[in-house]
Amino acid sequence: MDIVSAGFLRLRTVMNIAVLGAVWGDEGKGHIVHSLSGKYDWVIRFNGGANAGHTIYRDGVKYVHNLMPSFDWRSPRPKAFLGSGMVIDLEQLHKEVTTLWNANSSFPSRVYVDPDAFIVLPEHKEEDKRLNGHIGSTNRGIGPAYVSKISRKGTRIRDLMKGPSEVSNKFIKEMQSMGVHFRGLMELRREMEFDELLFEGAQGVMLDINHGIYPYVSCSESTVAGIYSCGFHFAKPEKVYGVAKCYTTKVGEGPFPTELQEKEAHELRERGNEYGATTGRPRRVGWIDLPALDYACQKGGITNLILTKFDILNGMDKVPMCVAYEKPPMSSSDFFDAKPQYITVPGWKDAKDDDQLVPFIQRVEKSTHCYVSYISCGTDAKDVKPW
Ligand code: IMO
Ligand code: MG
Repeated sequence: MDIVSAGFLRLRTVMNIAVLGAVWGDEGKGHIVHSLSGKYDWVIRFNGGANAGHTIYRDGVKYVHNLMPSFDWRSPRPKAFLGSGMVIDLEQLHKEVTTLWNANSSFPSRVYVDPDAFIVLPEHKEEDKRLNGHIGSTNRGIGPAYVSKISRKGTRIRDLMKGPSEVSNKFIKEMQSMGVHFRGLMELRREMEFDELLFEGAQGVMLDINHGIYPYVSCSESTVAGIYSCGFHFAKPEKVYGVAKCYTTKVGEGPFPTELQEKEAHELRERGNEYGATTGRPRRVGWIDLPALDYACQKGGITNLILTKFDILNGMDKVPMCVAYEKPPMSSSDFFDAKPQYITVPGWKDAKDDDQLVPFIQRVEKSTHCYVSYISCGTDAKDVKPW
């Protein structure tokens, strides 16, 4: 068989997937991606920046990745790629690369950064603090960096690599000396075409600049569209998994139809340890919101669901689920005055017993028309199981 037809056969068997936040972010994407990453050649971030906080437990140690894709570096297979749709704070990336280097000095050589990505400057972070408090921004400079990009005043990593040496350039040089590659998609495409790719979304569909609850959104594309605008037209994900908790959380301002208040909120927050991985802020909490999840699946291009944190609701007799609003949401504006309607389904004593989860999961599938493909009931990789 010649090389071309051998390549063709391989191409047909490759399966790329995407793992996106289905709702308001913080659904456990990092944990899921980390658990699945050993089966893929690349784990690819395509949107957002260090506003993401992806929590991972490796050998009992907690890591928070803000920019670094959630690849399991103990597994020999996956490499990490930071795509051009991201906005990158080089100092923060340098910190995360150093963590990787400390784990093993050969690991940074598995990290590739697209030099077409734009950078976040200190003034972007200052601007966030001054102007975006009412949105509940993480103050990581994300919005202002995308504004610079769109207004054609931005700086790409590539510009720094050409230009005179500055502080940021020092970070690039140090990362290069640790082994990090700064190579664009055009250079890597031939290799990636025959590889299996796992796209790791940041934020969630309801925070997407086009489809989220504007103006309480982040400034990047967190739907499947972000993968394509990052240049991956040649690598369509066969399955797009949306990750959602079996309840709902949100950081930052804006409408949250199923939000709990006071004692009930406090209890759920403590049970789930719902504090922001990036900012440490207490997260707003509420019951699962199926109209929002259905909207997010449709707008986000989600084909399958992954539900997380079942262990947190262990021991509840009945679990509330919002199954409808008085008026179904047809646009993101409809979330601002939504009136949620609830049912309860039997709860579970122990989320490790699959049978007890059936009523809840069947109801999610009925409302979203998406199959639940994986569930997670703990922080260990073995707690992520196919459903
Ligand atoms: P991961 O990837 C949850 C929220 C902020 C704020 C709004 C705008 O961990 O799921 P920004 O800093 O982008 O200007 O903030 O978006 N937000 C997130 N919420 N998870 C995230 O990322 C988020 N990234 C941004 O709280 O409401
Ligand atoms: Mg997070």
